[in-house]
Amino acid sequence: MSDTTATFPEDFLWGTATAAYQIEGAAREHGRTPSIWDTFSHTPGKTAGGDTGDVAVDHYHRRTEDVRLMAGLGVGAYRFSVSWPRVQPTGRGPAVQRGLDFYRGLADELLEAGIKPVLTLYHWDLPQELETAGGWPERDTAHRFADYARLVGDALGDRVELWTTLNEPWCSAFLGYAAGVHAPGRTDPVAALRAAHHLNLAHGLAVDALRTALPARAEVSISLNPAVVRPRTDSEADRDAARQVDALATRIFTGPMLDGAYPPDLLDDTARLTDWSFVRDGDLPLISRPLDSIGLNYYTPTVVSAVSGDAVPERADGHGGGARSPWPAADRIAFHQPPGERTAMGWTVDPTGLTELLLRFTADAPDLPLYITENGAAYDDKPEPDGSVHDPDRIAYLHGHIGAVHRAIAEGADVRGYFLWSLLDNFEWAYGYGKRFGAVHVDYTTQRRTPKSSARWYADVIRAGALPPLDI
Ligand code: FCB
Repeated sequence: MSDTTATFPEDFLWGTATAAYQIEGAAREHGRTPSIWDTFSHTPGKTAGGDTGDVAVDHYHRRTEDVRLMAGLGVGAYRFSVSWPRVQPTGRGPAVQRGLDFYRGLADELLEAGIKPVLTLYHWDLPQELETAGGWPERDTAHRFADYARLVGDALGDRVELWTTLNEPWCSAFLGYAAGVHAPGRTDPVAALRAAHHLNLAHGLAVDALRTALPARAEVSISLNPAVVRPRTDSEADRDAARQVDALATRIFTGPMLDGAYPPDLLDDTARLTDWSFVRDGDLPLISRPLDSIGLNYYTPTVVSAVSGDAVPERADGHGGGARSPWPAADRIAFHQPPGERTAMGWTVDPTGLTELLLRFTADAPDLPLYITENGAAYDDKPEPDGSVHDPDRIAYLHGHIGAVHRAIAEGADVRGYFLWSLLDNFEWAYGYGKRFGAVHVDYTTQRRTPKSSARWYADVIRAGALPPLDI
């Protein structure tokens, strides 16, 4: 990193991000019904220590305090998700007013504090009843999602300008239905491919529903977590392994969304599992409805190689190393731990991947503005005896990655904002409360919030609109 200060565009949006199930708690209040994550986390052996989101960081009752915290940091935007079973229990029928009121109230408090609300409709908490009816592998779930999108759009369209349909559909489809390390915990690769298509369809249908419900000024987007895939060597076999993983991780979504077609190589690679007849006439034009921007979530790159003979492939793909792979039809591909320093998740710190990702989308979707809708790191933060929390590792991580965003902008990427994952320590899915991603520390016994030194550092970056030289 050079010593010169990296200055960002004046209207660059600096934000933080969270997701409903990870922070809200109040799992059974005011008519909320279980989501697949309630069921999964309550199933013995599925999450570290049996942790659940029943209480989480009690954001449902501490919303005002949390908005005040953000105002203190000076963030310009807050990306949150709506809990589907809180506003439409069971995933069908009318909305629960009380559920919608929670998010309307949140949006009001944010707007009063000068913080732009950025709403994600789906961050993984499918109403359990819809999973019981077949879940994402079933086509009807996409239609249920469109109805839900309409209902939330009607209720919050006057307050929220930036809308995201899905968060990381790759995780929903492949960690949820192939690897089984996320809810609903199924391990059926064909179901996972069907789920990916129905998530795509849900996205397209929701874009239409939102365009009907929202005023013209609203922006509609999606948050993807494309893999930054690197072949371990330059051999043809390793490059082909990288191509295959890129298709399964990224082009399975961007193909239909941006180009109106599934990539032919993806269809070939998976042909022994399915003929993709679940894709119906008329689906692709729906999925490729124009968007106003794309959100990208980035944490770490992926290194792959081809496996020859009977060797058992290494599985360091950073997704929990469950017994089953999240990568359908890719069983002769090994996933390697990239070299370098790691976070508490075991994810290698490599900001160059973020610049690479932004430049790739600049090339693939030249007309679409980009947001980094998630980036951040878990470390084993511990309060000092005086209660303060020092997290120089996180500051270094953020410094490197915000610098990587700046580099991409300098090289022509149209990046409009950056959302730090996460505002608060929270329920990190299968890892439970053991992994802390927050800029603000949470004591899970008292629910006391303490901004870490990274929060103060981020507030300085926001205030300056620039990245200072690294000095920690
Ligand atoms: C992303 C998720 C987010 C959080 C971070 C660490 O995949 O969208 O909820 O778990 O990873």
